[in-house]
Amino acid sequence: MTTRRVLVTGGAGFIGSHLVEALLARGDHVTVIDDLSTGRWANLEHVAADPRLRVIVASAAERDLLEREVPGHDLVYHLASAVGVRLVVDQPVRTVETIFLATHVVLAAAARYRRPVVLTSTSEVYGNSPRLPFREDDDVVMGPTEKRRWAYACAKALDEFLALAHFTETRLPVFVVRLFNTVGPRQSPHYGMVLPSFVRRALEGRPLEVYGTGEQRRCFCHVADVVEGLLRLPEVEAARGKVINLGSQEEVTIRGLAERVVALTGSASPIELVPYEAAYGQGFDDMQRRVPDLGRAESLLGWAPRTRLDDTIRAVVESWRAGQAGA
Ligand SMILES: NC(=O)c1ccc[n+]([C@@H]2O[C@H](COP(=O)([O-])OP(=O)(O)OC[C@H]3O[C@@H](n4cnc5c(N)ncnc54)[C@H](O)[C@@H]3O)[C@@H](O)[C@H]2O)c1
Repeated sequence: MTTRRVLVTGGAGFIGSHLVEALLARGDHVTVIDDLSTGRWANLEHVAADPRLRVIVASAAERDLLEREVPGHDLVYHLASAVGVRLVVDQPVRTVETIFLATHVVLAAAARYRRPVVLTSTSEVYGNSPRLPFREDDDVVMGPTEKRRWAYACAKALDEFLALAHFTETRLPVFVVRLFNTVGPRQSPHYGMVLPSFVRRALEGRPLEVYGTGEQRRCFCHVADVVEGLLRLPEVEAARGKVINLGSQEEVTIRGLAERVVALTGSASPIELVPYEAAYGQGFDDMQRRVPDLGRAESLLGWAPRTRLDDTIRAVVESWRAGQAGA
């Protein structure tokens, strides 16, 4: 494989930093654009001395910057985004603006210089869809605009529309990936991410707070598996102009996740149920289940997740014990 110059927006974030590490490991030159809003410099510290890495602390919505940087790269990964239920509920203006404005600017520059773009979207786009597993061509079922949490899903759906519109109009190579819950070392607990919150609390001996009944189920995929899919995506011509799910199909209830964290850490922490209203205010919507159909990922990318949930939890616990994880 030839050495490439790759631009990663959001590269100082959780998934972005793992992607940057993998790109450097295969010999690429990498430029990160990150405003460090939810990301951290510490996420890149272990690769900071690599001369093939450049980090620009700035917003991906800065048009002039993107116009300057995109032409010098062969490929763009666009991960910069407002992320996390807590942040989405507390800062709805920032959520909508960050997501859509940055994507607009990144895609416009990529279109002008015809650079392929991988866009990270989310399983939230499926909304309340009752059909499981979620397939990329399923209808999306959004909640009302009066419920703030839907702002994230709608803004990400608009990102997808815009990316696919560029593909339709000019055949700009775009790859849209819908990530399901992704977890692993370096994920921050600050913005409503459940696994790092549970692990931190378990290690500190504090109660693990499970929202709602705890019977809602999710599938958690190890970030290393997700990165493997992200690396393969732009290599596959048949994936251009397509939406592709990446995630795990191993379901667990949130209460079950809490129990596993307690068991795997050997913690004495109790598990407490907290009503959604207490956590997020009135009118919070949550989905009961979210499972990806992986047919496209398998047939187009030859991709399937490899890491079992218990191993993923162990990896997160180890990273917290080693003091690396997301302060
Ligand atoms: N982690 C998951 O479970 C998950 C699930 C679905 C989708 N995603 C998507 O994956 C991508 C990465 O998410 P993550 O979990 O690594 O979150 P993260 O918060 O760790 O990473 C996002 C990064 O983008 C940066 N950023 C935000 N706004 C920016 C802007 N305007 N300009 C430049 N940088 C900006 C942040 O500082 C951060 O480093 C996001 O697009 C997110 O929507 C993540």
